[in-house]
Amino acid sequence: MIVAIDGPAASGKSTAAIGVAKALNITHLDTGAMYRAITFGLIKNQINFKDVKAVEAYISTLELKFCINKKNTALMLDNVDITEKIRSNKINENVSEVSAIKIVRQYMVKIQREMAKDTDCILEGRDIGTVVFPNADYKFFITANDKSRAERRLTDLVSVGDKKASDLDVVLDELRVRDHKDSTRDHSPLKKADDAIIIDTTHLAVDEVVKKIVNIVNHKRTLI
Ligand code: CDP
Repeated sequence: MIVAIDGPAASGKSTAAIGVAKALNITHLDTGAMYRAITFGLIKNQINFKDVKAVEAYISTLELKFCINKKNTALMLDNVDITEKIRSNKINENVSEVSAIKIVRQYMVKIQREMAKDTDCILEGRDIGTVVFPNADYKFFITANDKSRAERRLTDLVSVGDKKASDLDVVLDELRVRDHKDSTRDHSPLKKADDAIIIDTTHLAVDEVVKKIVNIVNHKRTLI
């Protein structure tokens, strides 16, 4: 079973996906974290994003792993835990440029399909229902209004200790800029799949979003 969740930045995809994965006892794959990780690695190694050959060489050496520990899922890049580091403003500001690179996407889509191959899985991102798993069993497109998205993201940034994260308008601006870049890029832009169900999380609590998705999945399952 594949559940695809797509949607704009900070719309509540991760929180929903984590809850649904737990409720349905399936694997959760945060594909945004993977694009963030590669962005982190390129910056750390001072690789120019525009240098396609250097980016390609870097990708070929990359070791990216999700590790389940007691508290949550940790993302390891070359055996270093980067779970919190990839949530910084610096990564927010650069990730859309990196995720627009064709070879980066090709590499990611390949490993995402491999990771979900032998397991029931919920994947969240921008192109899951359109490109990675166009035949997914269930597709959702999660949205929320700008104010809620900015408030939620500000809370996230404060929780990872990002000191630049003080102004709601600055955060909102960053989300809008990133959504614009993600939706207008040439390769697999952020887009609702025609058959995805829209869930607006603006006025919903986390457990209500989770319940909504789980109910739809379970209902459809009984019809199969
Ligand atoms: O948490 P937030 O919604 O802000 O973003 P994310 O899901 O962590 O994704 C970070 C960035 O990765 C996005 O802004 C996209 O540029 C890129 N991304 C993508 O291109 N394709 C995906 N399937 C997932 C993320």
